[in-house]
Amino acid sequence: MTTATIEKSVPRKRLAINSPAITAPAASRLEALTPSDWALDVRDLSVYFGTNRVLKDVSLQVRNRSVTAIIGPSGCGKSTFLRAMNRMHDLVPEARVTGAVRLFGSSIYGPEADAVAVRRRVGMVFQKSNPFPTLSIVDNVKVGPRLGGVRQRSVLDERAERSLRLAALWDEVKDRLNAPAVSLSGGQQQRLCIARALAVEPEVLLMDEPASALDPIATARIEELILNLKKDLTIVIVTHNLQQAARISDYTAFFYLGELVEYDTTSKIFTGPARQKTEDYVTGRFG
Ligand SMILES: Nc1ncnc2c1ncn2[C@@H]1O[C@H](COP(=O)(O)OP(=O)(O)O)[C@@H](O)[C@H]1O
Ligand SMILES: [Mg+2]
Repeated sequence: MTTATIEKSVPRKRLAINSPAITAPAASRLEALTPSDWALDVRDLSVYFGTNRVLKDVSLQVRNRSVTAIIGPSGCGKSTFLRAMNRMHDLVPEARVTGAVRLFGSSIYGPEADAVAVRRRVGMVFQKSNPFPTLSIVDNVKVGPRLGGVRQRSVLDERAERSLRLAALWDEVKDRLNAPAVSLSGGQQQRLCIARALAVEPEVLLMDEPASALDPIATARIEELILNLKKDLTIVIVTHNLQQAARISDYTAFFYLGELVEYDTTSKIFTGPARQKTEDYVTGRFG
């Protein structure tokens, strides 16, 4: 199905609420995007846990090689949205996902899609760093490529070094690559998890509050890293730190009670949002 037919098949009412790429006010840069700019194209996405619908008809397009922030109060469905982008809900028996998610044009929930392949293309980093505790620093990074079938030592070494450099960790660990991963500081462990995710060369990196357990210096390093990574890949980051969203993202989506309230350029969301609810949230009137 072409994008044009998808657009036609979506009821107008919903487009007006949720698809700024199509109906945004003239001031929005999102309007200029075409499907070839989209890394992710989400249409009418709903997620249920049992009978509880926690994400309601969310439609948005994530721009390739950009940082998109997901903001909103606790429990509004930010993590649920993120997890739907790489089929993590497949692992939860009571979860059900409806709607469509396309990754560079191909459906990740379609009959031909393979969840493992999707997760290789769409990596994820969690709030709490979770290195494999029994593995060394370098072996943590090699896990993904090894599972993907890479056997040659030189290739694994090269992939590990490249990933650790991309994650801005190489200089700190190059002399102790075989030390246990858990000997690193919290901020280093989180960068190790980023390196581990990068080692399978994903096209999209999902980050769920990746710095919320870190001190300001470690947080700054992660933010700097994110800005460097977007040259090569697409990042979707959940954060409850509004200053962080404003500092590092190009686009911001505001979720409330499972719905996408507003999605626009970050500068528009923070300086002149179209909706009162968004304004109330970004100005700290509720949290
Ligand atoms: N595995 C699950 N089983 C049942 N309910 C869940 C599960 N995961 C999340 N939820 C519910 O979905 C809603 C949204 O949660 P979540 O996406 O984690 O919110 P946020 O990340 O914005 O804080 C919450 O009400 C939460 O309790
Ligand atoms: Mg969450």
